[in-house]
Amino acid sequence: MSLLIKNGEIVTASERYVADIYCDNDTISKIGQDLETPKGAKVIDAKGKYVFPGFIDPHVHIYLPFMGTYAKDTYETGSKAALMGGTTTLIEMLCPSKNDDLLESFELWKSKGEGHSACDYTFHMGVPRFDDKAKDQLGEVIDAGITSFKFFLAYKGVFDLSDEELYHALCFAKERGVIGTAHCENADLVLELQKKLISEGKTGPEWHYHSRPPYVEAAGTSKFLTFAQATGAAAYIVHLSCNEALHQVMRARYAGTRAFVEIVIPYLTVDMSYAELPDFEGAKYVMSPPLRHKSNQELFWNGLRQGFVHTVATDHAPFDFVDQKTKMGKDDFTKIPNGIPSIEERVKLLYSHGVAEGKIDLHTFVDCASTQAAKIFGLFPRKGTIQLGSDADLVIYDPDYEGVISQKTHSMNVDYSAFEGWKIKGRPETVTVRGALAVENGKFVGKKGHGQLLKREPNHF
Ligand code: URP
Ligand code: ZN
Ligand code: ZN
Repeated sequence: MSLLIKNGEIVTASERYVADIYCDNDTISKIGQDLETPKGAKVIDAKGKYVFPGFIDPHVHIYLPFMGTYAKDTYETGSKAALMGGTTTLIEMLCPSKNDDLLESFELWKSKGEGHSACDYTFHMGVPRFDDKAKDQLGEVIDAGITSFKFFLAYKGVFDLSDEELYHALCFAKERGVIGTAHCENADLVLELQKKLISEGKTGPEWHYHSRPPYVEAAGTSKFLTFAQATGAAAYIVHLSCNEALHQVMRARYAGTRAFVEIVIPYLTVDMSYAELPDFEGAKYVMSPPLRHKSNQELFWNGLRQGFVHTVATDHAPFDFVDQKTKMGKDDFTKIPNGIPSIEERVKLLYSHGVAEGKIDLHTFVDCASTQAAKIFGLFPRKGTIQLGSDADLVIYDPDYEGVISQKTHSMNVDYSAFEGWKIKGRPETVTVRGALAVENGKFVGKKGHGQLLKREPNHF
């Protein structure tokens, strides 16, 4: 299909101008003033609207066996929700457990996306152990275009790995030009604090925070970055949630370590007081690391403005409130499946609370929600910008739209919204993935199976 988008205000991480964009099949082939309409092209008038590069969510979970249950979305529901929210590429955490075969896991996760996803996607490869076999298998995964690893310094006995394994895995990452991403906490401390709190009868969701306080996250962050320093590997801290952990990153960067910071939209918009909501509603807000004190939010907005916080992701992990969070965790917060669904709301919340409230400008918005992820993870300039030859992943954004978030109208396969009733300003009105319409006038028109597994090159950071 060929597509001509006329009169939109194109905004990238560095440019802003009014022009027409012509997309011939998958890619952007012309940008200019008053472009002629080629025969048969579909024409969309974007006057008064922004045209952004497709947004990239660098941290989501779609298929996730976790804490004795499974996250609720499939690629069909998750990619639809992503696209309705303006996200055209997602990077899923591929999370094998300790005893899983890594190549079998790679095939399993691929089978969940292939033929099902409406948006493009790739994976961070989970590394729950590291030995000769794992090294060979990870080499094959890298050859297949998956050029980032995911380490868990958390979830003891399930996903975590020993210091020795972490060291050798990071040496391998460095050797192959792969970036190491990590969930940073101290898994042993979390376990001990959980046991202590439960033994004291502190069983509600509000105690989740106290089992994983900021110093526990700072300890994990410091450890991971020390290992990155020792091995020379590049490091990306996923879902960094607090001032204390951010200090560790600044220290490491100062010492010369290549370290990147991801925050997630819940940390910018909700805080620890939500986990104290009555009637067990706090469980909707249980994720790890936990929601923090509100004062951290100003630090993150500042970090985005100044560029020392790089990306805004979601850590989308949808578990039903009634049948999963409540049933499993009502007597013990350590059994509440961790996660806050937000793949559909990230861009709208970031625009409403960031741009519309004057906390970040439009370029920073595009940079942290799209361009940085593309650059750090080897997708740029195919993704993350609007230029000749880039994939025609485009979001026509209506800044004047006003709406309300609700579980009743969302596309995510989960029985609650953490942002129920919140007003939003602006929305992705029309969204394309490689030139094909996925959302038109706010309605999903995408196609199951249109999404491609993206191959990424190493050494892109
Ligand atoms: O609470 C969270 N973050 N759930 C998903 C798993 C993870 O740690 O990323
Ligand atoms: Zn995590
Ligand atoms: Zn995650």
